[in-house]
Amino acid sequence: MKTKVTFSLAFLIVIAVVIISCKKDNNTSDDSTNYSDTPVLPANPENYRASSNDNLATLGRVLFYDKNLSLNNSVSCASCHQQSKAFCDNLQFSVGLENVKTPRNSPSIFGKQGRVFWDGRANSMLDLSLRPVKNHVEMRFENLDALAQKISKTSYYPELFKKAFGVNAEIDSIRIQMALSEFLKNFDFSNNKFARSEKGEESLNASEQLGKNLFFGKARCSNCHHVESNRNVPFGDSLGFGGGGYGFTDESHNIGLDEVYTDNGVGAVSNRLEDNGAFMVPALLNVEYTAPYMHDGRFKTLEEVVEHYNSGVKNHPNLDVFLRNIDLNMSDVELSIFITKLDVNQNGMLESSELAGLEPVRLGLTAAEKRGLVDFLKTLSDPGIFRERKFSNPFAVK
Ligand code: HEC
Ligand code: HEC
Repeated sequence: MKTKVTFSLAFLIVIAVVIISCKKDNNTSDDSTNYSDTPVLPANPENYRASSNDNLATLGRVLFYDKNLSLNNSVSCASCHQQSKAFCDNLQFSVGLENVKTPRNSPSIFGKQGRVFWDGRANSMLDLSLRPVKNHVEMRFENLDALAQKISKTSYYPELFKKAFGVNAEIDSIRIQMALSEFLKNFDFSNNKFARSEKGEESLNASEQLGKNLFFGKARCSNCHHVESNRNVPFGDSLGFGGGGYGFTDESHNIGLDEVYTDNGVGAVSNRLEDNGAFMVPALLNVEYTAPYMHDGRFKTLEEVVEHYNSGVKNHPNLDVFLRNIDLNMSDVELSIFITKLDVNQNGMLESSELAGLEPVRLGLTAAEKRGLVDFLKTLSDPGIFRERKFSNPFAVK
C-alpha cells in the first residue's frame, strides 16, 4: 500500500514538472521543436496565391522566421506571430527584446489592403514590414544597412535573394522589405464554415444562423466588420476591397471602450481630435483563436466582447454613430436619410457636436442572441491556419 502511494506521488510530481515546463515554453517560444541554423525548403517553391513570384514570398517566409533580424538574435517576427497561435501570441501584450512588453496586443495577420497597425500608422504591408525590425521594443535593428550586411554573411540568403530577384541583385533593406511584405500579403485563412455555407456546401446551425442575422442586421456589426461572402475577387481589387471572404479593412472607428482613452490610437497619428480613441477595424477571421481581444487585449473571451457591444458601450464624444441609440430597425435607405440629417454642416462626416445628443446603444440581447453572435464568430475559423506548411517555420526540424 505504502509503495503505491509514494509511487503515485512521484508520478504526480513528474506530471506537475512537465506541466510547469510546458507552460513556460508556450509563453516564450513558438513551439517546442528543434531549430536548425539554416532553413529547410522544398526543391520547388510552394505556390503562394497572392504572389506572381513564389521565390520572393519564400524569401519573405524565411525572413519572417529568422531571429537574425533582431539585434541580439533573440526575436523573430514569429516570436509574437506564432503559427501555433493563429499568428498572434495569446498574450495581452507581447514580449520583445530583453522581455520588454509592447504597448498593444499583437493581432493575427491577414493580408489587409490599406492602412495597418491598430492606429493605421503604416499605409500598406510594404510600409509596415520593416517597422517591427527597427522598433525598439520588438527587434531593435535600427541600422538597416548593418542588417543587410549581417544577413549577406549567412550561408543561405545570397542564394534566396538570387532566386527572388535575379543573379545580380544586391541584398539591401529595400529588398528585405519587399520580400517580407510579399509573404504577408498571402495571409488569408478563410476556408471557414461561413464561407462554405454561403456557397451552399454546408449549413449553419440554428444558433449560428441567429448570430448571422444579428451580425448583418440589428446588431450592426457588419457596418464596420465587412465579413463578405462574395469571393469573386480573389485577392483585392484596386479599390481596396480584399478577397478572402473579407471586404474593406481600411477604416477606423471609436467603439466606446472608455470615456477617456489612455491610448488615442488613430488620433495620436493623425493629430485630429475626432480620431481620438479610434482604432483600425480588425478582420474577424479566426477570431476564435486570437484571444485576448481589442488593441489593449482587455477582453479575455468573445462573450466579453459581445457583452461590451450589448451593454458596455461608453459615451465617448467620438463614439461611432452605429454604436449609438438610433432606431435599430431602420432600413438602409432610412438610415442614410437619418445620417444625412444628422450631418448638419453637410461635410460628409459626423462630428462629435452632431452626435452629442445620442446616447450609447443598449442592444438588450437575450442570452440566446449573445450565444448566437459568439457561435457565428466561430464560423469564421479556419483550422488550416495552424497547419499550412508554406506559412510554417522553415528553421524547425521535427
Ligand atoms: C515583440 C513582438 C512582435 C514582433 C517581434 C513583431 N510583431 Fe508584429 N505586431 C506586434 C504588435 C504588438 C502589433 C500591434 C502593434 C500596433 O498596432 O501598434 C503588431 C502588428 C503587426 C501587424 C499588423 C496587423 C494589422 O492587422 O494591423 C503585422 C502585419 C505584423 N505585426 C507583422 C510583423 C512582422 C512582419 C514582423 C517581423 C518583421 C513582426 N510583426 C514582429 C508584435 C510583434
Ligand atoms: C462602429 C464600428 C463597429 C461596430 C458597429 C462593431 N465593431 Fe467590432 N470592432 C470595431 C473596432 C474599431 C474594433 C477594434 C477596437 C479597439 O481595439 O479599440 C473592433 C473589435 C472587435 C473584436 C475584437 C477583435 C480582435 O481581434 O481583438 C470583435 C470580436 C468584434 N469587434 C466583434 C463585433 C461584433 C460581434 C459586433 C456587433 C455586435 C461589432 N464588432 C460591431 C468596430 C466595430
